[in-house]
Amino acid sequence: MKTIGIIGAGQMGSGIAHVCALAGLNVLLHDINDEAIQSGLATISGNLARQVSSDKITDAERHAALERLTAAPDPQALGAADMVIEAATENEAVKQAIYKAICPVLAPHAILATNTSSISITRLAAATDRPEKFLGVHFMNPVPVMQLVELVRGIATDAATFEAAKGLCDKLGKETSVSEDFPAFIVNRVLIPMINEAIYVLYEGVGSVAGIDKAMKLGANHPMGPLALADFIGLDVCLAIMQVLHDGLADTKYRPCPLLVKYVEAGWLGRKSGKGFYDYSGDEPVPTR
Ligand code: CAA
Repeated sequence: MKTIGIIGAGQMGSGIAHVCALAGLNVLLHDINDEAIQSGLATISGNLARQVSSDKITDAERHAALERLTAAPDPQALGAADMVIEAATENEAVKQAIYKAICPVLAPHAILATNTSSISITRLAAATDRPEKFLGVHFMNPVPVMQLVELVRGIATDAATFEAAKGLCDKLGKETSVSEDFPAFIVNRVLIPMINEAIYVLYEGVGSVAGIDKAMKLGANHPMGPLALADFIGLDVCLAIMQVLHDGLADTKYRPCPLLVKYVEAGWLGRKSGKGFYDYSGDEPVPTR
């Protein structure tokens, strides 16, 4: 595997492109417009520089990684990829439309993977021309820092595809965990209901934003409190995952907290919109409740 195509230059797509380029792969970065690609490339450049300043990588490695990254605004360019990882918005219709558009340009041998954090791999695979060469490769945010990738087979995924994806993760220096194809897989099945519960705790007035986050950081040794983590992941993403769990498992324990719904409806999506459970407009985040 020499060339990887990445669809989506946002938080996850740029992180995946970053680690692939650093591992010596040629990366084609695609998004709906050139502005989004340039913004993703700028994020990667900033994060590579951060790794140089903390001696994680050398300046030569940073430079070589940047050389391996190519903006690919034209989807035809993805025809050169051995594997394409889709990291678009967590919306099934959007992902299906992307597969419909790009499958005809992909090389016959190319593997198509999705970074979905919750949607059925089998159902997404059915919207492609290659269900046997399709699987879930779920990276964690921030990709350059987090060790884990979840690997998820759809019902049709063949052994060679799974082994190739596992080989890619090994090359990237990532640990893998295999999940069956059930809503939200392993990490988000456990993590996002925990975050949703923290939002209920806030909603019911049991604790304040700062109190809940302090309790979980110091009381459970989490690196970030659940509300800061929700803002980091994106409140729209958290809500989308709760909806997939609620719809897919039909259990009321997965009902999204009304306060989470209200924040998303207000456009308070967390760090990416400048406001969520914290306001990020100043030097330090300030709790919004
Ligand atoms: N690229 C490169 N390096 C990065 C980075 C990035 N995007 N983000 C952070 N870093 C590096 C920093 O440079 C720093 O490096 P040094 O230690 O060498 O100086 C190191 O990571 C720690 O960062 P900070 O000092 O800025 O801050 P921190 O110690 O608070 O750590 C954190 C930040 C790594 C994000 C940490 O708070 C953490 O692990 N939080 C939890 C993250 C988490 O749970 N992620 C999973 C989310 S769920 C998910 O992703 C699945 C899904 O589908 C929703």
